[in-house]
Amino acid sequence: MKDLKRIEIIDLLHGKATDQVGKEICVKGWVRTKRGNKTIAFIALNDGTIIHNIQVVVDLAQFDEEIMKRITTGACLRVNGKLVESMGQGQNVEIQATEIEIYGEADVDTYPLQKKGHTLEFLREIAHLRPRTNTFGAIFRMRHAMAFAVHKFYNDRGFFYWHSPIITSSDAEGAGEMFQVTTLDINNVPKNENGLIDYSQDFYGRHTSLTVSGQLEGELGALSLGKIYTFGPTFRAENSNTPRHLSEFWMIEPEMAFYDLEDNMNLAESFIKYLVNYALLNCKDDLEFLQNMYDKELIERLQFVVDNDFVRLKYTEAITILENSTQKFEFPVGWGIDLQSEHERYLVEKHFKKPVILIDYPKEIKAFYMKQNEDGKTVRAMDILFPKIGEIIGGSQREESLDKLIERMEQVGINPEEMKWYLDTRRFGSAPHSGFGLGFERLLLFVTGMVNIRDVIPFPRTPKNAEF
Ligand code: 4AD
Ligand code: MG
Repeated sequence: MKDLKRIEIIDLLHGKATDQVGKEICVKGWVRTKRGNKTIAFIALNDGTIIHNIQVVVDLAQFDEEIMKRITTGACLRVNGKLVESMGQGQNVEIQATEIEIYGEADVDTYPLQKKGHTLEFLREIAHLRPRTNTFGAIFRMRHAMAFAVHKFYNDRGFFYWHSPIITSSDAEGAGEMFQVTTLDINNVPKNENGLIDYSQDFYGRHTSLTVSGQLEGELGALSLGKIYTFGPTFRAENSNTPRHLSEFWMIEPEMAFYDLEDNMNLAESFIKYLVNYALLNCKDDLEFLQNMYDKELIERLQFVVDNDFVRLKYTEAITILENSTQKFEFPVGWGIDLQSEHERYLVEKHFKKPVILIDYPKEIKAFYMKQNEDGKTVRAMDILFPKIGEIIGGSQREESLDKLIERMEQVGINPEEMKWYLDTRRFGSAPHSGFGLGFERLLLFVTGMVNIRDVIPFPRTPKNAEF
């Protein structure tokens, strides 16, 4: 077979290879469909660079019948052929095959993606193969684009990418939903004289877990470098089998010295708008595909978020709105409750019909590190609530007073001695500061229009699910 330079399908279809028309080129990719008649075959080939396929036209008289039989959906091919302008609808160019090599066959009887139109539920059971479908190709290209945009947004604004540890000895959110990390033999755990597990014999000489948030270590970065952000995996062993929870998810956590809650809200709002706008500008083909297939209002909804101010509202005012509404809620409403997703969605989807930033929550339902308000009852928290998603961002201004922070830790049962390293930020050169966490997969739900969080991460981790 002639050794020709490979051209990626995105370049062929986006007009970057117009000078190649009339010449013989090489493409490589996986067969999406093969159809035709006794004299001619049309192979739709996809190489993952773009949602669209290139059409390979095969004059059957020129090819061995045996080879053509082995070219089935899912097979991987190397094709040499002449690039020509296409008469067919929906494509500018196609390839008239001269030589074909089969890199890998895909058995018709056992390849699970033989036919189109599988349900998302079925595809979740073959999560290792689903990136081969149009839907998951589109989603995972967008996942990449959003990750790139996160770094671009912060880099352009002078933030430093900060790596908080994944293994930690502290429970940042104080919710006790951590996966333990140990090298102790769990069939024969060493005990101390009190009959308790002797963690001094463990790998780190102490009890450790996978982090639920990079925030606390992020605060150390902010109080030295000024503005940082983390972007990494976080782990929560909460037993929530919902379409919005993963036990391994990615979070972006900016943390900024000298930012108050208002600055924090402004940053968060412009950050989300930037990401959504980036998707509109850079993921057009994939967005149009997802809109056609799943969600007719997707692009309109994205544009709406970019074009409109978010509502900003105090928790107490939100409770009043919920109490005065005629809607029947499953969970009763009253000052002090942790808002359920039905409450959040009522505010966003029915009442305001816009994203909402809720601030000044009761301190009892929020983490110990949030700045206490003068009223003694509320803290300078902010949650951003989104249509169809509910909470997409959680954050706050941080308590900078050492005394108040220690008092709050004692109230909620955290031993200040064990967090000495964290309290040193307040002991030495404390400063007002703020930050927030954006759940990366929740953002992806919004920009892709998917409804189940298991469909926006390549290998979802949920209770009883870690096969691949
Ligand atoms: O509200 P959370 O728990 O806040 C924190 O972890 C803070 N330390 C953030 C900070 O201030 N630096 O989580 C932040 C966001 C949520 O708003 C949600 O989008 C996402 O993380 N999130 C989850 N996403 C998927 N699965 C889960 N189980 C999630 N739990 C939280
Ligand atoms: Mg939260």
